[in-house]
Amino acid sequence: MIILDGKLVSVTRREQLKLRVKKFIESYRRSPQLVVVIVGENSASQIYVRNKIIACEAVGIKSTKIELPATCQQHELNVVIDRLNLDQEVDGVLVQLPLPKGLNENEINTRLSPYKDADGFTFNSLGHLWAGQPIIKPCTPQGVMNLLEHFKIPVAGKHAVVVGRSTIVGKPMAHLLTMADATVTLCHSKTPHLREHTLRADIVVVAAGQKHLLGKDDFKKGAVVVDVGMHGSGQGKGVTGDVRVHELQDWAYAATPVPGGVGPMTIATLLENTLILAEISQQKKQQKK
Ligand SMILES: NC(=O)c1ccc[n+]([C@@H]2O[C@H](COP(=O)([O-])OP(=O)(O)OC[C@H]3O[C@@H](n4cnc5c(N)ncnc54)[C@H](OP(=O)(O)O)[C@@H]3O)[C@@H](O)[C@H]2O)c1
Repeated sequence: MIILDGKLVSVTRREQLKLRVKKFIESYRRSPQLVVVIVGENSASQIYVRNKIIACEAVGIKSTKIELPATCQQHELNVVIDRLNLDQEVDGVLVQLPLPKGLNENEINTRLSPYKDADGFTFNSLGHLWAGQPIIKPCTPQGVMNLLEHFKIPVAGKHAVVVGRSTIVGKPMAHLLTMADATVTLCHSKTPHLREHTLRADIVVVAAGQKHLLGKDDFKKGAVVVDVGMHGSGQGKGVTGDVRVHELQDWAYAATPVPGGVGPMTIATLLENTLILAEISQQKKQQKK
């Protein structure tokens, strides 16, 4: 079984990105910049934000953290987003989720400009994606596509099943696979007889958020299995996914480990998205001249 080692691939991609960032800095005399907005004290969020900032610095992307108290009101958060939308030095903005109670995620998703949306979650970004004209693509699904591409897993003409229909993973994942000419079945918690679908698939992407939901009996021999699920601290040890991957040896053609599969690809894509947004911003500035 081929291990779809996202950790390894992300190292290669980050090295390539470092060179692209260097070129950007030489051309435009500034660094691409990602601003991470974090509201409240959620300890897991603090860890995720710290990791993203370290990842930015490692490739030469400037990162700035804006910390707001848990007592922050919606209008105060909106003012911050509006200011970042207008700031010419800011290329990407990421609002770390979940937001504390009382704050509305959808407000951010309608307010943040798609030209600043490094995560690719805003309604505007998703609309562009759905229309087949993506500005940038959501990090996790695009990370999966990059992983499949790296390992030369054919997608066109294949039958792919996506388990999970969230707006940030499942639905855009199904869309990206469709754009890559797979025939896609999108399953969710109300899908009767899930196994009947997964057993027929050449590629299964599991993003159900249910620890060890699927195992060998759910996949056909020779399937490619991508496990997006993440259960545990998010810090490596003890982290598991939605798939009982240990059962897949000598059964699947290829599968992702957890940790070290999709997770590192997600962060690499966030960095790549920030550079793409910075490049678009520079092109716009040139056009205005
Ligand atoms: N590795 C990464 O970088 C990364 C990034 C994002 C998320 N994740 C992980 O990926 C997982 C999914 O995240 P998410 O944000 O998409 O979760 P989510 O918003 O909770 O969505 C889960 C989806 O799975 C479906 N589902 C739940 N139980 C199911 C079952 N038994 N059979 C079939 N479908 C089922 C749900 O169906 P309904 O719509 O019917 O409720 C829903 O559509 C989580 O473990 C999360 O931590 C990892």
